[in-house]
Amino acid sequence: MSTKERIRMVAVGPDDESEKAAWIDALGAAIDSSSFCLGSAVEKFEAACRERLGVAHAIGVSSGTDALKLALAAVGVGAGDEVVVPAFSFFSTASVIVQLGATPVFCDLDTSTLCIDPDAAATVISSKTRAILPVHLYGQTADMDPLMKLSQQHQIPIVEDAAQCFGVFHGGLPAGAIGDAGAFSFYPTKNLAAAGDAGMVVCQDDELADRIRRLRVHGDSGGYDHQLLGWNARMDGFQGAILSLQLNKLDQRQAIRRRNVEEYRQALGEYDLLDQLIPLGRTQGSDHCWHQFIVMVEERDRIRNELSNRGIDSGVYYPGTLPEQPCFTSDPSNAHRYPVAESAAMKVLALPVHHRLQEGDPTRVVATLAEIILEMIGK
Ligand SMILES: Cc1ncc(COP(=O)(O)O)c(C=O)c1O
Repeated sequence: MSTKERIRMVAVGPDDESEKAAWIDALGAAIDSSSFCLGSAVEKFEAACRERLGVAHAIGVSSGTDALKLALAAVGVGAGDEVVVPAFSFFSTASVIVQLGATPVFCDLDTSTLCIDPDAAATVISSKTRAILPVHLYGQTADMDPLMKLSQQHQIPIVEDAAQCFGVFHGGLPAGAIGDAGAFSFYPTKNLAAAGDAGMVVCQDDELADRIRRLRVHGDSGGYDHQLLGWNARMDGFQGAILSLQLNKLDQRQAIRRRNVEEYRQALGEYDLLDQLIPLGRTQGSDHCWHQFIVMVEERDRIRNELSNRGIDSGVYYPGTLPEQPCFTSDPSNAHRYPVAESAAMKVLALPVHHRLQEGDPTRVVATLAEIILEMIGK
């Protein structure tokens, strides 16, 4: 076990005492203005997001999961519908579809980016398809141009799962508002992090935004008039207050993530490991916020254990595919039709990339990986 300080996988909460004091001041101001459920602290954050992303509507909600559910419901997904979705993502990408009474129709991934494969999506569109739900996995967008063509050709809306992709642009358009609507998560490990659960829906269309705002408060149009059946999905004022502070730090933190990735790439080259630890490819036209830095590696779990023994944390997002989750599949054979997703679930390894890493940390991670791989080859 190394005597050096452990390298952690995530950095949550304030960075230091002075940032903690700023958070407490912001919470005090939210209390003074009675910004508890929505309120001025949330409105201020929504306005800052509209400006930053260049979107007409930014609607603060209680989580990324609720953001997805509201966006899907607002474009009309309901009982009996199908939604096309990648076979590899966080659980709630698919669970919200089922909770709306619809069926997730899974499809396989692009081998290089592990985002949805647009050609595979095209093959599963049916007369029941009510939405396409691409996931912008790990911090870059899915290949949106062919997906947009598919959407236009079949007149099917696109709802983007941009939970991991706040502030990323694809061909000049903001992730989340390339299709009809998009969902962000501000879970504390995300690049834009709340101090608890929070999320957001963005869109450009006024009517759609009006429906989403109503769905956020039980479907109420005002004055207890419920034309729609909605949920309680409001963003807390406290989260809005913290998120406004976090947004001011986003550029600085993104620069550190980019620096870390650059250092990883150099170190992987220098240690001649690019054949064993294969970084994912890039989506053409998309920036990257490096929510995760992923390499594909054989014997992932063994390597990860050793890394942990030597003082370095890592992550696996995700250890299985969505179709193999028993709650989605009554037909067990359904779980074996997604070779790219299944291989990803065995091989993806997320290395620490957050903004609290020091220069030299990514090189230490790669040097340790080189040591482990050499030992494994020797055995
Ligand atoms: C791809 C993806 N979709 C949806 C979510 C759900 O967001 P939340 O945890 O804020 O509900 C997450 C968060 O982990 C995610 O990574």
